[in-house]
Order: sequence, then structure tokens, then C-alpha cells
Amino acid sequence: TYANPKIPLPKDIYGPNRKNSKGVNLNIRSQYQPLIDEMAKFMDKEHHVKPLLAFDVPDAPAERHEVRCPYDTRQLVGSVQWTSKEQAQKAVDAAWAAFPRWQSTPVEERAQILERFADNMENHLAELMTLCSREGGKLLTDGVDEIREAVDFCRYYANRARNLFGEATQLPGPTGESNELYMTGKGVFACISPWNFPVAIFCGQMVAAAVSGNCVLAKPAEQTSLVAHRVVELLYEAGMPRDVVQLLPGDGPTVGSVLSSDRRITGVAFTGSTDTAHIINRALAARDQAAIATLIAETGGLNAMIVDSTALPEQVVADVVRSSFQSAGQRCSALRMLYVQEDVADHIIEVLKGAMAELSVGDPRDLGTDVGPVIDEDARKGLQAHIERMTGEGRLIAETRLDPAHTGNGTFVAPTAFEVEGIQALETEQFGPILHIARYKASELDQVIDTINGKGYGLTFGVHSRNESFAKAISEKIRAGNVYVNRNIIGAVVGVQPFGGQGLSGTGPKAGGPHYLLSFATEKTRTVNT
Ligand code: SER
Repeated sequence: TYANPKIPLPKDIYGPNRKNSKGVNLNIRSQYQPLIDEMAKFMDKEHHVKPLLAFDVPDAPAERHEVRCPYDTRQLVGSVQWTSKEQAQKAVDAAWAAFPRWQSTPVEERAQILERFADNMENHLAELMTLCSREGGKLLTDGVDEIREAVDFCRYYANRARNLFGEATQLPGPTGESNELYMTGKGVFACISPWNFPVAIFCGQMVAAAVSGNCVLAKPAEQTSLVAHRVVELLYEAGMPRDVVQLLPGDGPTVGSVLSSDRRITGVAFTGSTDTAHIINRALAARDQAAIATLIAETGGLNAMIVDSTALPEQVVADVVRSSFQSAGQRCSALRMLYVQEDVADHIIEVLKGAMAELSVGDPRDLGTDVGPVIDEDARKGLQAHIERMTGEGRLIAETRLDPAHTGNGTFVAPTAFEVEGIQALETEQFGPILHIARYKASELDQVIDTINGKGYGLTFGVHSRNESFAKAISEKIRAGNVYVNRNIIGAVVGVQPFGGQGLSGTGPKAGGPHYLLSFATEKTRTVNT
């Protein structure tokens, strides 16, 4: 479809009742319509929320922060009362007081809370999607994927926990001695999550820590505290005690700094920028007389894709468009740097320009929209500055047209592609719909791989080639946590593509993978003289 911009996209071809020979309605709107109808009930609701702590939180009007819609900043979604330093410290007290009780709660009970929570989120799909869209600017399709991923995390970690925290492992020993090894929670975890997956990553960290027997202090991103609040209410309804998981909305300098400097914090699960991960790491290390804390960090990437001359151009372009522009490029997995072998570069760039001209940018609640807004004005300004600088240097090759009628009141950035000499031209990750393209000669391939590896990131990577041994060799040489061959490089599925990087991109273990819970737990050996 993307290959020839004159062929209309499916949304234009399928009339409202067009069915295939098996009677299935081919209009994608028909599949979403019941959800869209239900979302309408929540569209105009304003949400005014406070921290959810183990104790009552008095109203503090001066601490309220307004939340506005990214696609139409004239619309107020609600307000959030931020957590004070004192409340954050009291929350740590409450979490420590609850830890012994929670740690000895049978894992089956903890796992069942996660499963009931997953059911609750499924039953509130439309409400959560509405918040993801109004607060986070998410497209409907991204919203469904987001809640689906959160639900998957709950069910997957519930089962992993049964396996890891259930029976102790009996070990060999001499006659008259029994030895066993078992896993238990570490203490109190701070979970600091990003706005780009305000339900999935927020839940993934929180439920992993809790099901492993830890008490949790969850700090959502400043931009997406409303949906986090609703999610924690659903977690409480599923039976999670209020002193085991507490929600501390607020900013990094206030809440984040308490959570990374209090000596009672035993671990931090953090997803966000590499710079912030370093700040947290230093703060944890600087604490006097504190236990050596675990830091589980999932950070940014300068993700690349290499396309050789055997690749199928139409498939390449469809996958590049999805990897770079879906979710307005606001995924840590998104493609930032595309390398195309020079013999096919002109053709692929031509097809890509056609595809980018077809993208529709606008209201995320409209099923016809391909690219929604970026999260806020600060993000828009930063991306726009990069676009202006690169355009000024004469590197622009394609830019999707923005229609002010659909984008005039929100924080939108046009999908844009630049030609550069290589990844060395990129200083930092640009967290938005901006793609960089470079041409390479077959003889330069090793150098290209060395340059990508030399940047020090290592999150996602893609290769497009019909030459199997070429694709395999590159996958092995590249230092990246998630390598995708002949497909897009986003949308890792829980339990299928465990997700996470290395180097500047994070510490591991991989979210949605079999080893994730291990970092939230400590091992104990018990030897009994019988
Ligand atoms: N897990 C997401 C993806 O794979 C990124 O955070 O796209």
C-alpha cells in the first residue's frame, strides 16, 4: 500500500459494511465502534486526584497541577495534587512497616491479586483508553496495545512468581543435614515510570516488584499521573493492600529525590532517560550506611536498521514507517537511524517519501489518524529545534504536511526524514517522529556496525535482507538487546520478545522475560542439622 501513494489506504477502500466472503466486516471501524461508543461516556469527565498513600492525604490546593490534552491544549483533563517531601518520607515508613507481613503472604495470594487486577483492567478498557488518549495523546490502536501489554505483564509475572517463589529447591548435603534454597522479596522498591507507556510500563514495574514480595512506592511521570491513579484504584479493588503499593505523583526533584536518597530504599526500577538513570545511580551510591541497592534501568536508544540491496523495498518502507512514526516516534524502541545500501537507496527513499505524504497527523481518537501529538509543549519545542537545525543544514528529504485544522490546537510534530552521513551525526536520542537516513557501500559495512556499536547504546536494532547469512552475521555483531530481522522494530510482546537493552540503554533484566523477577528478589539458603 505504501509503495504507491495513489493506492488508497484500507480505511478509504472499506465502506462501512464491506464484508469478506466469510461474512467478516472488513471496516476496521466496526471492530472499534463498541469501544469508541463506550469511550464517549468518559470523554468529558474531569479527574482531580491526590496521592494514594497508606494514610489520609489532606487537600493542598497549592500543590495541584493542571493536566491538559496534548491534541487540544484548550481542554482540561483534570488536576493532580503532588506528593510533598514529608508525605514521601511517611510513605517509606508505611512501606517498611508493611514489608514483613507482605513478604510472608503466600505467593499464591499475591499472584491472584495480579490476575484479578488484570481482569479489572480488561473490564475498564474503554475508560483507561480514554485517559491514555486525553492525557497521553495515544491513538486508539496504541491504547488497546497498551492495556493489553499491562494485562499480559500481570498474568505473566503472576505465573513466573508461582514458579520462583513457590516451593523451596531442595539441595544435596551430608546425612543429618537438610539444605534448601528459596527466594524472597528485598524490601521497598521505588518504581519510577515514563509517560510514553503510562499503563504498561507503570504496571509492569509495580506488579513485578509487588508479586516478588516487595512493598512499592510508585512514582508515575508528571505528565500521566491521572491514568496511573485510576490504575492503582483498580489494583486496590483487586485486593492489593494500600500500604503495599502507594502512588506518589510528583516531580523528580521532590519525590524522585526522596525515593533515590532515602537509605531504606532497597531497589529502584526506573524507565526513562539515560541521564536520569545516572543521577539515580549516583544518589543510591551516595547514601550513608545504606544497603547496596538494586537499580533496574531501562533507558534510551539510538536504534538503527540496516537494509541491504536484496531487501524487499515495500516491506522495508512499511516497517520503517511503523518503526519511526507509530506512537509519534515516542517509543524507546523506535527507529532513529536507517542505513540503506547505496544501490537501492534512491528507490527506497522515493517510496518512503510517498508513504510519508500519506500519513495523516491529527486527533488520536479518529481511527483515520496515523500519527497523534507529542506529549507536551516542551517536547514539541525540542523536536522542532532539531528539525529546524537539520533543515538549515540542508538535510531535509521528506516532511509530512500538517493540516492546521487538525493540529492547530495541540502539540504536534510532522513526521520528518533527514539524510545524514551516519549515526555519528546524532548526539542524543530525539524522542519523536524524526528519522535519519544514511547510504552505505557494501565495503563499509563493518565500519557502519562499529560506529553504531561505538555510540554505546544497545536497545533495538533491525536488519532487512533476503540473504539469511548476512542477516545472521549482522545480528550477531551488533550490540543490542532486541534484534528484529525483516520486520519492524517496535512492539515487543510480553513473554515473546523480552524487552530491554545494554550499555547506555539499560541494565537488564528484560521486562516481560523469564528472568525479570529475579532482580526484585533475594536468595536465601537454609541449612538444618536434622
Ligand atoms: N516495549 C516497547 C516496544 O517494544 C517500547 O518500550 O515498542
